[in-house]
Amino acid sequence: MGAEDRLPVNVAEYEARARARMDPASFDYYAGGAGDERTLSENVLAWRRWNLRPRVLAGVGAVSTATDVLGSRLAFPVIVAPTALHRLACDDGECATARACSAVGTVHVVSTVASRTLEDIAASADGPRWLQLYVPREREHTRALIRRAEACGVSAFVLTVDTPRLGRRERDLRNDFQLPAGVEPVHFPPLDPAAGDPALGHFARYANLNLDPALDWSIVAWLRAETRLPLVLKGVLTAEDARLAAEHGVDAVVVSNHGGRQLDGVVPTAVALPEVVAAASDRMAVLVDGGIRRGVDVLVALALGATAVMVGRPVLWGLAADGEQGARRVLELLRDEIEHAMALSGKRSIAEIGLDLVQPARV
Ligand code: GLV
Repeated sequence: MGAEDRLPVNVAEYEARARARMDPASFDYYAGGAGDERTLSENVLAWRRWNLRPRVLAGVGAVSTATDVLGSRLAFPVIVAPTALHRLACDDGECATARACSAVGTVHVVSTVASRTLEDIAASADGPRWLQLYVPREREHTRALIRRAEACGVSAFVLTVDTPRLGRRERDLRNDFQLPAGVEPVHFPPLDPAAGDPALGHFARYANLNLDPALDWSIVAWLRAETRLPLVLKGVLTAEDARLAAEHGVDAVVVSNHGGRQLDGVVPTAVALPEVVAAASDRMAVLVDGGIRRGVDVLVALALGATAVMVGRPVLWGLAADGEQGARRVLELLRDEIEHAMALSGKRSIAEIGLDLVQPARV
């Protein structure tokens, strides 16, 4: 059996397979970060700067990885992060992602920059689904999207707060990245082909022309007036902003640096997580994303106080490697790694995971 015939056994092998299968410029759009990609690589390394402190003879027997976040039941504490344009990975795009999430029992956070419509995604699978929001200057657009999402059974909104403008992604500039024919951000109004900086691809031009760079904390009240569903802010990296989020009554924050795609040099999420937890986890749920590639990384995040994690690129690698089956298997691998690591750490349930499970690596 050749290496191409056997199923990948971890996320890194799915990434290698995705790289081999994808159009190189589309791969770079998914894989790349801003600037020198320091934050992109430090996100991965920062989880590995923690070691586990396993307990023995803990009578583990059956291990339950199940948990609840904002009223959604998760079979394991990994939510699929909002990522753009899944049709760059496989034709079914977000519909395949939705089926994979539903099969494993986790939440699919659909991006505003999806390449399949919310209605098609909702018709593909009935698992829990949240919607990520980018807010254009024209508020009517967001209002209409919220109404559509509610009609499609979306059960929470995730406002991205780290994008007053899009990060400078040098791979995309180098590749002159343009969307392949037929792949479009279907929830955006059509973009005038002559508008904006022609050196930038469709999404970068759209974002820089239309997203509201003047967004401030008043957007929370505006969204609260538009919907009764839970509101999550994604992109918080400091205790100061975590406290403001709690004071504005949001239901959760995601400690995130947008997968290293916005401001290069910002703190890795594993390093930012403890201060956000200390500032606000008694008042709201704290989620985290960025650089999570192993079940052990998830245990570290939970030990540091996260309620659950989000993964973005790993699911894209699964989709690109093998469509819905690939995305599903990536999630199953993470689930199995979490369950295995819990058993070997002496933890029977997510509730048993606490700060005593980790210590800073000293090698
Ligand atoms: C979209 O959110 C992106 O980061 O490209």
